[in-house]
Amino acid sequence: METNADLDSRPSAIGSRAIHTVPVIDISELAGEIHRDLASVQQIADACRKLGFFQVINHGVHNDVFEQVWEQTRAFFALPAEQKEKVLRTGENPWGYYNNELTKNQRDKKEVFDYTTDGVDAVYGAENRWPDFDQRFRPTLESYRDECASLSLRLLQAMSAALVLDPQFLNPLFDPEHTGFVRLNYYPVEDPLEGRDDVAHLDVADLGIHHHADAGALTVLLQDSVAGLQVFNSGLWYDVPPIAGALVINTGDMMQVWSNDHYRAPIHRVLAMEATERYSIPFFFNPSADATIRPLPAMVSADRPARYRPIEWKDFRSRRTDGDYADYGPEVQIAQFRIVD
Ligand code: OGA
Ligand code: NI
Repeated sequence: METNADLDSRPSAIGSRAIHTVPVIDISELAGEIHRDLASVQQIADACRKLGFFQVINHGVHNDVFEQVWEQTRAFFALPAEQKEKVLRTGENPWGYYNNELTKNQRDKKEVFDYTTDGVDAVYGAENRWPDFDQRFRPTLESYRDECASLSLRLLQAMSAALVLDPQFLNPLFDPEHTGFVRLNYYPVEDPLEGRDDVAHLDVADLGIHHHADAGALTVLLQDSVAGLQVFNSGLWYDVPPIAGALVINTGDMMQVWSNDHYRAPIHRVLAMEATERYSIPFFFNPSADATIRPLPAMVSADRPARYRPIEWKDFRSRRTDGDYADYGPEVQIAQFRIVD
């Protein structure tokens, strides 16, 4: 079996030798009725089968929204450490700031701020922590979250229409409320924990974020103009280049399970920043807390029986979060639910 280190030492694809590029899809038609015959639905399905990553333009989120979100994000990470640590994440409540995150039990060279839906969330029973340095921080980020959720629902419907015809098929699994969340990522050039002796897991943070697949249904990512995100495919790492005004979309583990492996949750990572700091803002669109995820009936046949046992989303999600926070042994992966034949 390939180990983490093996995968991360694979080469990056170089220009003309690259077989894959990340497609850019115009999704303006998803603002109307979504059905399988739309060109963008076909392009999305194709991207989900091949690389699992694509970029969208004409997605309906305005540039001034992005600008306000960037302004607040930069201002937050620029605060002194003590001020950021006032909203520090804890073992019981994962919302807020963190600078010692693990991916597959390796520390990442980054700082993050996570927030979710309003009120007490249905996975952890916890509420968002908001810093008070700027009155605009909270409303700006709350409305960005809501825009991402509505865009995600349209993308989910496109993916669903391509798989099972019915664009609404997966909607009930996101009711009464999705458990998605937004993460502000800051990838500094200097290691934020360099020289600190009061924190655990100080081993080398040699990547911005170690390779992983996102756990949920799909991810909507806003990245700044600094490159660093890469997706793994057939032995090589491919760049996901920044495009001004575009959003990067990738499928997650639960989409892989629903589609019974027709769509793959892509493995991706972010290189450590050496010269220029980088910011990115993923929105992870996740099912409702009580959803059970299993291959969709239309994706299962005698030739291709169900490849996964049912997964209780709340349990899967909270175990993955525990693994990101601290080293509690191997992180939960969908491979553990795979039915081996
Ligand atoms: C993540 C992630 C990519 C990026 O936070 O899960 O993959 O570009 N981020 O920051
Ligand atoms: Ni990711």
